[in-house]
Amino acid sequence: MADNYLEKRMEQYRSRSSSPQGAKTKEGFSSLLVKNRSTRGYDASYRVRADQLRRIVAVNTKLASARNRQPLRFRLVTADEAYKVLPLVRMGAGLKELNLPLEGTEPNAFIIVCSTIEPRNSTFVDLGISVQSMLLQAVEMGLNGLCMMDFDADGLVDALALPYKPLLVIAVGKSSEKIELVDIKAADDHAYYRENGVHYVPKVVVEDLIIE
Ligand SMILES: Cc1cc2nc3c(=O)[nH]c(=O)nc-3n(C[C@H](O)[C@H](O)[C@H](O)COP(=O)(O)O)c2cc1C
Repeated sequence: MADNYLEKRMEQYRSRSSSPQGAKTKEGFSSLLVKNRSTRGYDASYRVRADQLRRIVAVNTKLASARNRQPLRFRLVTADEAYKVLPLVRMGAGLKELNLPLEGTEPNAFIIVCSTIEPRNSTFVDLGISVQSMLLQAVEMGLNGLCMMDFDADGLVDALALPYKPLLVIAVGKSSEKIELVDIKAADDHAYYRENGVHYVPKVVVEDLIIE
C-alpha cells in the first residue's frame, strides 16, 4: 500500500463530509484558476494541518523539471512555527498603507521552497511550475495561498535552520478575503486595489495578449 494512501482517503472523507450534498463535486479547471487568487487575509480559527501541507507538496512528484533535475525542496511550517516566518515576509507592497495582513488575519502555515543547486534560469521555470501547481492543489482542497518573493532569505535560514537558501515562500490558509478579477486593456493600470472590502485584481484581456 502506498504510504500516503490512508492520508488521501482521510482527505477525501473530510471533504465529502463537509460538502452539503454529502458528495464531492469535481471542480472545473477554470473555476480553480479563478479561485486561485493571491490571498493576504486568512481565517485565524482555521489551523492548516501538516498532512494538508504534505499533500500540497506531493504534487511535485508529478511535475516537469528541466533535465528532470528536481532541485526543489520544501520546508513545511505549521502554526507552532508560523510566528518565526511572519515577520520575515512582506505582503501587498502595492497597498503599503494597509500593512497587510490585517491584524487577526495572518496566515498560520507556510511552505518554504528551496533549491539544492545554485539557481539558474531553468530552476526558476521549475519553481513557477511547482508553485502554481501547489496553489491549485490548495484551492482544490478548499484552501488558498500567496506566493512571496519579497522576504528576508537569510533571516529564514537562521529562524528555521534551513540547509538551503529559500527561493520563495507560500502562505497557506482558509481565505477570509473577497477577491474579484477585472478585465483591463494592456495599456490600462495593472495595480491591484481595494474598494468596500473587495480586493480587485486587473487582468489583461486575451485579445491584448496575442501578438498579431
Ligand atoms: C513571482 C511572484 C512573486 C510574488 N511575491 C509577492 C510578495 O512577496 N508579496 C505579495 O504580497 N504578493 C506577491 N506576489 C503576488 C502578486 O502580487 C499577485 O500575483 C498579483 O497581485 C496578482 O494577483 P493574483 O495572484 O490574485 O492574480 C507574487 C507573485 C508572483 C507570481
